[in-house]
Amino acid sequence: MLDKFPFLLHGGDYNPDQWRHVPGILDQDFRLFPLAGINSVSVGIFSWAAIEPEEGRYTFAWLDEVMDRCAERGMAVVLATPSGAKPNWMAEKYPEIRRRNPVGWCVEPTQELQAGRHNHCLTSPVYRAKVAEMDRRLAERYGRHPALALWHISNELGGECRCPHCMQAFRDWLRAKYRTLDALNEAWWTGFWSHAFSDWGQIVAIDTTVEGLELDWRRFVTDATASFLRNEADALKAVAPDIPVTTNFMGFYEPLDYNRLAKYVDIASWDCYPPYHDRPEQTDAVAAGTALAHDLCRSFRKQPFLTMESSPGPVNWMPTNRLLRPGVHRLKSLQAVAHGSDSVQYFQIRKGRGGCEKFHGAVIDHVGDESPRMFREVAQVGRDLQALQPVRGSATPAEVALVHDWENRWALRNSQGPSAVAKDVVGTGLLSNYRPYWRRGVPVDIVSPADGLSDYKVVIAPICYLVQDGFAEKARAFAESGGTFVGTFLSGVVDAHALVFPGGFPGPFRDLFGIWAEETDYLYSDERNAASFAAGNALGLSGTFALRDICEVVHLRGAEALGVYARDFYAGAPVLTRNRFGSGQAIYIAAHGGTDWYGAIHGALIARLGLGRALAADLPANVSATRREKDGRTFTFVENFANEARTADLGPVPRTDLLSGRTLAGPTELPPYGVIVLEG
Ligand code: GLA
Ligand code: ZN
Repeated sequence: MLDKFPFLLHGGDYNPDQWRHVPGILDQDFRLFPLAGINSVSVGIFSWAAIEPEEGRYTFAWLDEVMDRCAERGMAVVLATPSGAKPNWMAEKYPEIRRRNPVGWCVEPTQELQAGRHNHCLTSPVYRAKVAEMDRRLAERYGRHPALALWHISNELGGECRCPHCMQAFRDWLRAKYRTLDALNEAWWTGFWSHAFSDWGQIVAIDTTVEGLELDWRRFVTDATASFLRNEADALKAVAPDIPVTTNFMGFYEPLDYNRLAKYVDIASWDCYPPYHDRPEQTDAVAAGTALAHDLCRSFRKQPFLTMESSPGPVNWMPTNRLLRPGVHRLKSLQAVAHGSDSVQYFQIRKGRGGCEKFHGAVIDHVGDESPRMFREVAQVGRDLQALQPVRGSATPAEVALVHDWENRWALRNSQGPSAVAKDVVGTGLLSNYRPYWRRGVPVDIVSPADGLSDYKVVIAPICYLVQDGFAEKARAFAESGGTFVGTFLSGVVDAHALVFPGGFPGPFRDLFGIWAEETDYLYSDERNAASFAAGNALGLSGTFALRDICEVVHLRGAEALGVYARDFYAGAPVLTRNRFGSGQAIYIAAHGGTDWYGAIHGALIARLGLGRALAADLPANVSATRREKDGRTFTFVENFANEARTADLGPVPRTDLLSGRTLAGPTELPPYGVIVLEG
């Protein structure tokens, strides 16, 4: 990856196009870059008007200068296509490229005014042609430039458009999928509320009460976005085939199926803005949630990814934009590397004087020199990344996979009911089941239902409400051949059209789990049930655990109960079950609980299955351990997310900490927000 630039990238969004009227600004910036350890910049991200101020007149001189200065210093340029914000002249001359969306259900889709950004129609032939032309020119001018490392296509792709072009494209997409209206009406259950369509032209993508329609609309929006992305990638690659492309994702951003978009980029990247705000009670949840999102990005292509943006200092869009405590910037930056990132990049390098982001954290603050605390903290990260060069390109092999499907989230989000907690698939489902592994230093891949499972020992598919065609068979085959498949409440409910499976839940997983889930109790937020365990159960669990929010009442149909509900009319009903299946097993978690509940279940699996851990000893609270590997070398990252010292047992074999140069072993104190990276 980026072979011409064999270093961990340290840089980010750099907008000298906003400063062209300020003499000497490049001299100032290029003086500061080495002081901050900046070796890369991402340029051009919203610079259409600076490159093409009027139709057909191109002004590349400013960009030439930036590229050349970077080349002189051996810096890597991530060159963006400017399609994330169209210029005013274009919106004026070609109004059809503006988005149209309805306001509520009562009016025709309305054309947006030219304002903000990310505001173009996804299917507009005019805009696509304009973008392809711009990209071709960028590729012709810079495709062989010695500073060019990577294309950054557009920016944070997102949003949707319901203009006549897009509606037509949607109907064509539906026709290709269903062929006949009869098939569509059946798949969408349009007998409901007299929704039967007798003509393709009647279909308008604003009716969320037809769940199949909404689901297909979301799929179409992803496909239209993928095709927009490919239009750009094709234009660039036609001229510069050897330069890789990326586009910056936004973690678990719900509206777009990144599992599919990621196929069209060579390198996955994302923008990471975790709310590390020094609140002890939130520390683990924020750290684990951020780790989960990094793992998602790494898993897209099963190779190192890039952190494309993060903030050196507070952002300007949180309800409270608290200062990062000293050391937190370093901690969160190295957390990205710990989870497989080969970069630490920022939004942004130089803080603007105007525009709505003028108070957003940046490497170069309004004071304009190297004196701010955050500049020094960035420089520290620069030195750390130097020390971590051997880590570049290393992999993160995982024995555990967490299944994450955007379509599942869409289906559940758009269903009326069952509850807000249940709809939060990422928080309630993924994060709850991920944290026990994070806490114990067990690496996890985040996979899609379309991915192969055979590389893993444990596959967890939390809240698998929508079951993709073929996935249950895949899960069965996985367990049959020795794997441990773990599922939870609210699984096997609907098929890929959001139609409920008849014959009992968990639908196509019934024989795999060996249960029948009859009904589900949704608790008020202050209510609790409890799980208690029979002596000698297969996971060796004991004690009682509080249960909350979602309690499914299941019956055994071949499985054994490991634990039962302690209270209410379903007291004694199974709450945790295990079914032997072939040479493997399937575990079903019927109720939601706290970190102790998930920790007990997954902790038992980790111990019993002997899953590999980054450090053998148990980790203290708020400390994580991850591992990357390359050419027989291992790099163990130990991070203390607490604002107080913690002692972690690094194991009996002395190893070198790449960051401090010290040789460490056994119980070792990590200072507040401290990081150690052991090699060996
Ligand atoms: C996103 C965008 C950037 C900037 C930052 C601010 O990540 O890509 O252009 O707006 O947010 O946090
Ligand atoms: Zn449109």
